[in-house]
Amino acid sequence: MAGDAESWKRAAAEAAVALVKPGMVLGLGTGSTARYAILRLGAMAREGFEVRGVPTSIATANLAKENGIPVTSLEECPVLDLAIDGADEVDPSLDLIKGMGGALFREKLVAAAARRVAIAVDGSKLVKRLGSRVPLPVEVHPFGWKVTKGRLEGLGATAELRVASGETVRTDNDNYLLDCRFRAIKEPGDLERAINDVPGVIENGLFVGVASVVFVAEAKGVRTLKR
Ligand code: A5P
Repeated sequence: MAGDAESWKRAAAEAAVALVKPGMVLGLGTGSTARYAILRLGAMAREGFEVRGVPTSIATANLAKENGIPVTSLEECPVLDLAIDGADEVDPSLDLIKGMGGALFREKLVAAAARRVAIAVDGSKLVKRLGSRVPLPVEVHPFGWKVTKGRLEGLGATAELRVASGETVRTDNDNYLLDCRFRAIKEPGDLERAINDVPGVIENGLFVGVASVVFVAEAKGVRTLKR
């Protein structure tokens, strides 16, 4: 498949949207790849294809509304047919790191509510071991965040408060993000639980055993990886 990272993101996202059936309630992911899925769903909605979506961020809620996709909530729809999202890293077991876009908490809840989770990525996101390409984002409560940071460093991380344009980044939930670099993430499931046991941690970006299917777009075309 000819093209660049943008066209691959679009191809992967559109392959995920091909799983959508009329009447489904969807989880709508966040990020530059999930955006292409929402644009495609919007085009389908304009042709009369009816779905509803639970957005994983305020940005995604706005994009869905602009594109004519009815937005609902987990309170109204606690079980979703399918969630479509991107990822920052995908390992050979289809475990993921997510959250470089800052939406990991809502993304994890939405994924937990979904019967199936389809992940769309370009080939640059594939890694042998999680943590080799990006840090692991951890959403923490602002109260006492330095204590939380110290406890995360006790688990072997170097943790850095996420700052953009000189300001501490706040998530849609008004929390902080600590980007944690671990020397090697050998047992992602154990680490996911250990991090969430630290007081002050809201959620972390390890998504272990969550993806049902991953669509990977690269020069050769779109590959489908299944758990
Ligand atoms: C948002 O918090 C993230 O989990 C995104 O899904 C992830 O960062 C992938 O984003 P891109 O598709 O923009 O790379």
